[in-house]
Amino acid sequence: MAFELRYPIETERLRLRPFTRGDVDAVFAYRKREDVAQHLFDGPMTHETATEVVGLRAGQFTLAAEGDKMFLAVELRERPEMIGEVSLIWRGAVSRQGEIGYIFNPLHHGHGYATEATRALLEVGFDRLGLHRIYARCAAANTASWRVMERLGMRREAHLREHAFFKGGWDEELIYAILEDEWRARDPSGR
Ligand SMILES: CC(C)(COP(=O)(O)OP(=O)(O)OC[C@H]1O[C@@H](n2cnc3c(N)ncnc32)[C@H](O)[C@@H]1OP(=O)(O)O)[C@@H](O)C(=O)NCCC(=O)NCCS
Repeated sequence: MAFELRYPIETERLRLRPFTRGDVDAVFAYRKREDVAQHLFDGPMTHETATEVVGLRAGQFTLAAEGDKMFLAVELRERPEMIGEVSLIWRGAVSRQGEIGYIFNPLHHGHGYATEATRALLEVGFDRLGLHRIYARCAAANTASWRVMERLGMRREAHLREHAFFKGGWDEELIYAILEDEWRARDPSGR
């Protein structure tokens, strides 16, 4: 089920494209922040770590086998400014499962950019990769994150109560998902 995508992927206001080494400063600008790292597995990044991560991600833009991860940089179409990133992980080849994620620079929160970019990634997952179900996970306290999932029409499937320790305390995790037929049945305006 390996597939080739043509980049960039354009939405109304955004451009999704593979990472390049030139993205290090833009990535560092948001990944160094405590408020961005708060609900992520990684802590705030140093410039050195951001450089390593961007170097790795620059090669992660196709999905050829189960377990592969695709990370795309998101920039504004109106000016070439990198404002965040989205990811799609191919979790299951036989069961056709995928997982999405997103991280945006707080300077660009509150405009619907994360929702718009992630919607494009759901399209890639269902229309190009042929996935059957796409899910996402977030901390229950990460309201901004689960609101993105709800705007995309994803259903809350689980609330895992105190299922793990995370950053010194019990973790509460939400799982959201959408099936291919639910995606196809959504409002065609995409809202
Ligand atoms: C999760 C995260 C990407 C959400 O960012 P966000 O700005 O809230 O999400 P969007 O870009 O989709 O913007 C949605 C907001 O913009 C508003 N908005 C303004 N114009 C809009 C438009 N044209 N379309 C949609 N929403 C719009 C929405 O009303 C919404 O605000 P609300 O939640 O107060 O109602 C952001 O909080 C983040 O990067 N957090 C740190 C990293 C992280 O935790 N990632 C998730 C890990 S699970």
